[in-house]
Amino acid sequence: MKHLCVLVATAVIAAACAKPEPQEFHVIPMPESVTVTDGAFCVKGAPVSIDQNLDQLSQKAVGRFVAALETATGKKCREGKGGFSFMLNPNMGAEEYAINIGKDGAVVEAAALNGFVYACETLKQMLPAAIYGNKKASADWVLPYASIFDSPRFAYRGMHLDPCRHFWSIEETKRYLDVMTAYKLNRFHWHLTEDQGWRMEIKAYPRLTEVGAWRNGTMIKKEWGSNDGIRYGGFYTQEQMKEIVEYAAERGITVIPEVDLPGHMVAALAAYPQLGCTGGPYEVWTRWGVAKDILCAGNDEVFTFLENVFKEVVEIFPSEYIHIGGDECFGGDAEPGRPDPWDVCPKCAARMKQLGIKKGPEAKHYLQNYVTARVQEMLGKMGRKVIGWDEILQGNLAPGATVMSWRGTQGGIEAAAKGFDAIMTPTSYMYFDYYQSRDRDNEPLGIGGYLPLEQVYSYEPLDGIAPGSESHITGVQANLWTEYIATPEHLEYMLLPRMCALSEVQWCAADAKDYQRFTNSLEHTFQILDAMGMAYSLDHKGLIGLDRVPPRSPEELKANQKP
Ligand code: ACM
Ligand code: ZN
Repeated sequence: MKHLCVLVATAVIAAACAKPEPQEFHVIPMPESVTVTDGAFCVKGAPVSIDQNLDQLSQKAVGRFVAALETATGKKCREGKGGFSFMLNPNMGAEEYAINIGKDGAVVEAAALNGFVYACETLKQMLPAAIYGNKKASADWVLPYASIFDSPRFAYRGMHLDPCRHFWSIEETKRYLDVMTAYKLNRFHWHLTEDQGWRMEIKAYPRLTEVGAWRNGTMIKKEWGSNDGIRYGGFYTQEQMKEIVEYAAERGITVIPEVDLPGHMVAALAAYPQLGCTGGPYEVWTRWGVAKDILCAGNDEVFTFLENVFKEVVEIFPSEYIHIGGDECFGGDAEPGRPDPWDVCPKCAARMKQLGIKKGPEAKHYLQNYVTARVQEMLGKMGRKVIGWDEILQGNLAPGATVMSWRGTQGGIEAAAKGFDAIMTPTSYMYFDYYQSRDRDNEPLGIGGYLPLEQVYSYEPLDGIAPGSESHITGVQANLWTEYIATPEHLEYMLLPRMCALSEVQWCAADAKDYQRFTNSLEHTFQILDAMGMAYSLDHKGLIGLDRVPPRSPEELKANQKP
């Protein structure tokens, strides 16, 4: 039974510490159980002891915490007893942790890396926000006496990023991972392929990045038919993607790459036109929307291509799950009147005949099931499982896939009822490319829609799930598509503080959520984000727009980066 007990106490400060201040507890997401009592532990120069049974990555995570403390307080922490003590407790769950702060210092217990990462983030959020910066700061460097036990509600706590519509550097991607770490997210869904750009180096198919990573301009704002005339693109080398995987893994985050198929493939078709139904020529898309051209399901070369691509993908990404997309394959909006290629392609028709798929409006969905199942089998042989957008559920989905419910919650509800695992990411609560206020004239561009902070916070992932199927909902994710987002400050403005609200949906029991308590704690979160150099929205306070956020220089981005 979860309980929450937050007492506000007046700190009794040891002689070496600064003036006493009332202690408040402003940790997001709110831990499962918290008791704050009278007394305070002075952390400036406190000794640190690390149980040598901790694995290498856990020791490194604790080392990052100590380094941040030393930088912010300006005082070294020697090794020794009576200060911070990080202990292995193999009886705890992998993501659980306990913190006990009293007269003997702060004792942290966890069983594995994630528990230690989260304990350190909780400690950091309990300290002055300057600990998230990279400079010495004068502040009350004390922790209140407290007893904390924490454990997440959902195992899958995801945040997605689209580097295809607009490209994000490795530095910016690491900052994204930093802020995910601060709020205890553990899955980074990296959407690496799109109509408007293929972003991952694949050595067997060099044209994917020589051709597919670059587009001849981009449509201007929402002016359909326009083009800014500026060649745009970029890609990640395999070494860079491995660097991101490692950086994330050190913070308890699994990177789930997405190769979106069979739709959203125009950039790949521009590079290898024989993979499309018509044979092309194709151009990397310069506009937004949904393309008609997709991979040909009747051409075996397509499956050879996918197998070779995934062989390299699994070498880069150790994730148990690979996202294979599956969304928006039909009904593309760019060429009204043109039929979907699968409806008129002789090779696709032959494949449907061979599979015994009856003609009719559902035929395409069954053909998509065939593609999904073949890729699922191919990845299964490589030891991986698949996640797909909820369109994969239409027709007859083979067992074993996880469904990502985005077109509302129905996909997840249906998937769970049929015995599939599902991740909830419905547009109405979890699409961070939607506007945060109704004042669109003063907002930076959004794709449309309206998703204020409170709406994100209000989401209950098990609503509508049939009793007995709840365990199939493995978690929650928000998505950040970047058609209309071209700068890091705009990206962060759309992300924050909505991702903080998301973190409580993912972490806290339904009855432990409290929007008033959450918004009170946001004041401290804004100080943390300031210290990290992150932009954020204040729309929920009626302060609309990006005007108050100064544009970031590349030098500043680098300076804010943690080692
Ligand atoms: C999606 O938003 N097309 C998954
Ligand atoms: Zn075809």
